[in-house]
Amino acid sequence: MDLTNQVAVITGGAGGIGSATADLLSERGALVVIADIHLGNAKKVADALVNKGRQAFAMEVNMMSEESVEGLVATVKEKHGRIDVLVNNAGVLSAEPMLDLAVEQWDRVMDINLRGTFLCSKAAMRVMVEQKSGKIVNIASMAGQLGGLKVSPDYTASKAGIISLGKAFARYGAAYGVNVNNVAPGLIETDMTRGRGDDPASVPLGRLGTAEDVAKAVYFLASPLSDYITGTTIDVNGGLLMR
Ligand SMILES: NC(=O)c1ccc[n+]([C@@H]2O[C@H](COP(=O)([O-])OP(=O)(O)OC[C@H]3O[C@@H](n4cnc5c(N)ncnc54)[C@H](O)[C@@H]3O)[C@@H](O)[C@H]2O)c1
Repeated sequence: MDLTNQVAVITGGAGGIGSATADLLSERGALVVIADIHLGNAKKVADALVNKGRQAFAMEVNMMSEESVEGLVATVKEKHGRIDVLVNNAGVLSAEPMLDLAVEQWDRVMDINLRGTFLCSKAAMRVMVEQKSGKIVNIASMAGQLGGLKVSPDYTASKAGIISLGKAFARYGAAYGVNVNNVAPGLIETDMTRGRGDDPASVPLGRLGTAEDVAKAVYFLASPLSDYITGTTIDVNGGLLMR
């Protein structure tokens, strides 16, 4: 499925899953905006894609700031005219022992992962409602479905919240031709998890996931292949959680 002439915004686009998603969506023809708190890293990802002949732009965003998120959406709309795809991918991990988890850490993780997803979905939904089309894909986590294997409750709750938030936005967007879905990755090898000692043998498919494995599910949900799918969660976990 071709995404030519489509504008896709990927938050956390400089990271493992974000950059793999930017690569796949731009390879399918989309203009991609790589939005990240680390502008230098986002520029590196965008430059690499431009060198492959793709349309890619880097932008700075801090998901903790409503002003910054609103600014991202407004700038993309102004520069590129539309937003067809939003991938809410920016996120931070938290793995504090349960009883040591400080409220400041809880707030930070909830603000970036859950509140940030809400802010960006709301801002992009306004544009998509006006267009009467759009796809929002949220990167949740298997941790949000089963309470977390190696992560703390701020992370699991933020990801469970994203799954519910996605359904709420899906209900709202349905009347306007906007589909909203979630992807729940399992154990994926990126900077977030590298060195954690995740055991490939624990996964029924016998290996840890790659960022590209997740990107393929995002692409499906961002493309017309999924036009009749909304409010659902696709598990990309190698069979670790079957439901
Ligand atoms: N790697 C895994 O095993 C795994 C599993 C389940 C879910 N996820 C989720 O996938 C998403 C991507 O994770 P990843 O594995 O690619 O990790 P990553 O650390 O490589 O990427 C995360 C990106 O988010 C950016 N970011 C962090 N805080 C931000 C903020 N305040 N504003 C804007 N950008 C910010 C980082 O700079 C980074 O580029 C995250 O939401 C993560 O929770 C990852």
